[in-house]
Amino acid sequence: MERIERPRRLRKDGVRELVSETEVRATDLVAPVFVDATTDERVPIESMPGHERVPVEEAVARVEEVLETGVEAVMLFGIPESKNERGSRAWAEDGVVQEATRRVTEATDAYVITDVCLCEYTEHGHCGVLEPHAHEAAELTVENDETLPLLGSVAVSHAKAGADMVAPSGMMDGMVDAIRGALDDAGHADVPILSYAAKYESAFYGPFRDAADGAPAFGDRRHYQMDPANRREAGREVRLDVEEGADVLMVKPALPYLDIVADVRREFDRPVAAYNVSGEYAMLHAAAEKGWLDLEATARESVLSIKRAGADLVVTYFAELLAESED
Ligand code: PBG
Repeated sequence: MERIERPRRLRKDGVRELVSETEVRATDLVAPVFVDATTDERVPIESMPGHERVPVEEAVARVEEVLETGVEAVMLFGIPESKNERGSRAWAEDGVVQEATRRVTEATDAYVITDVCLCEYTEHGHCGVLEPHAHEAAELTVENDETLPLLGSVAVSHAKAGADMVAPSGMMDGMVDAIRGALDDAGHADVPILSYAAKYESAFYGPFRDAADGAPAFGDRRHYQMDPANRREAGREVRLDVEEGADVLMVKPALPYLDIVADVRREFDRPVAAYNVSGEYAMLHAAAEKGWLDLEATARESVLSIKRAGADLVVTYFAELLAESED
């Protein structure tokens, strides 16, 4: 009889760990933290069970909770006390992210990454300055080039407050170049940029927009975020960010876009990040609540798969759960 191939030999206890190719480690994970200037107590985020918006006074305590699980990095998002047309609270020295960053970097060893975008700060909820009459225009447009210096100011204000890394998420053309230039000019050449290099216009962001109060008041983000139909275009977007000086390349969302994660890993020589977004979190939670899925097991398998596809680090709302249950 001809001998058959027996891959099962390596699946037994004792050897399966030896041949295991991928691992989820607490130190690969980044936990998003929402700091809210409109509240003086913690507010649970309904669409993201287990997550809350915390006041600035609670930012250190919240980050300490994350650190206790073994996760060492956080990504700070801010909800400002007021919004306006240009989103000027985004680069205010006493802004919510700046204040939280100052406190957290002084009081803890957390690695602090800050979200650099305007959508939570503009009253219209878009990620940049609107063209005049955009509200009435059939085709809504964000003024790309007018937005760039503002993003530079946001990044510099975060770096000044002590941010370890900045993460521009607005998908403006040239944003990495503008931010790199602004940081360098301000004496922050050592602050790396994690660019949302391939960010898609995704329905999976729904729960986050509740969490951060960042839903566009009108229109959508199709004219700056990428079309989910496009794969080759991601290569172009990422290449531009590499040329502009991005240090880490992020793909977002993660699970429905693992082909993009794998492409970026194969084609570029920078670390790859993936953002396991709010909708990916909420759907597992909803199914687990009904008793249809095991939350921890599916969360672990999700993040493991994101890593297997090629991500070096994963931004995920499951960070604490996974770190705590690590065996
Ligand atoms: C804003 C921003 C968004 C997310 C991160 N930064 C929302 C958006 O683009 O609409 C989504 C995160 C998530 O869904 O978990 N620039």
